[in-house]
Amino acid sequence: MLISFEGIDGSGKSTQARLLHDYLSEAGQNPLMVREPGGTDLSEKIRSLLLNEDVQVEPMAELLLFSAARAQLCREKIRPALNEGRIVICDRFYDSSTAYQGAGRDVAVEDVDIDWLNSLHQRATGGLVPDRTYLVEVDAGTALARRNRSDAGPDRMEGASDGFYERVAAAYDRLARQEPDRFLRLDGTASISAIQARVQSDVNRLLAAARTEG
Ligand code: ADP
Ligand code: TYD
Repeated sequence: MLISFEGIDGSGKSTQARLLHDYLSEAGQNPLMVREPGGTDLSEKIRSLLLNEDVQVEPMAELLLFSAARAQLCREKIRPALNEGRIVICDRFYDSSTAYQGAGRDVAVEDVDIDWLNSLHQRATGGLVPDRTYLVEVDAGTALARRNRSDAGPDRMEGASDGFYERVAAAYDRLARQEPDRFLRLDGTASISAIQARVQSDVNRLLAAARTEG
């Protein structure tokens, strides 16, 4: 089973992904948790290039680099783990590229269309689609306040211009409407434990359904 967490930077999705990983580990499930971009030697190197404030990256190059990091991660880690029957938890997956590069950076509007973007995702992932995607939703102001509380300064992505996170959030909203069976929206302003309780009950339901089907 493949589970992804999505949301704007500071929404709290990494916190939820980690807690779900801990919960499933304690339940003896041996889940694999990965973050994007990252999770393999190559993908972590691409990550440091992409987040480095001193490197200039054009929008199309940015899209292809995120996709390259994903292609490596899917083949090296995610697909093998799924083949072993493990649950894989992704802190971000291709919906991040649709929202951040497609809408945030306007690559889709300027250079490519959405069908091409979806086809790129399909090729990069080798056809992997999450069984469930948790969209942690907070307004851009709340997310910024949470990011400002962290020790690290803004990375290259977080230094984006005004309106960027509003466009990304609007794109996530569209994705969740387009695929209501895959997406589950979570109110990211609720407490960490309340959000996690919602995630755990949903995952338990999905696992029970998978057992019945299997
Ligand atoms: P993301 O992965 O979406 O960037 P994080 O999970 O790293 O976000 O959380 C960003 C910050 O917000 C962290 O300091 C975290 O402790 C805090 N945080 C996460 N979830 C909540 C929440 N539901 N309420 C208040 N603060 C939260
Ligand atoms: P990260 O520090 O992991 O942010 P977060 O904790 O919010 O997940 O940095 C990942 C950054 O890369 C984040 O700003 C989102 C961005 N990103 C994209 O723009 N496109 C993508 O396809 C992915 C996976 C991430």
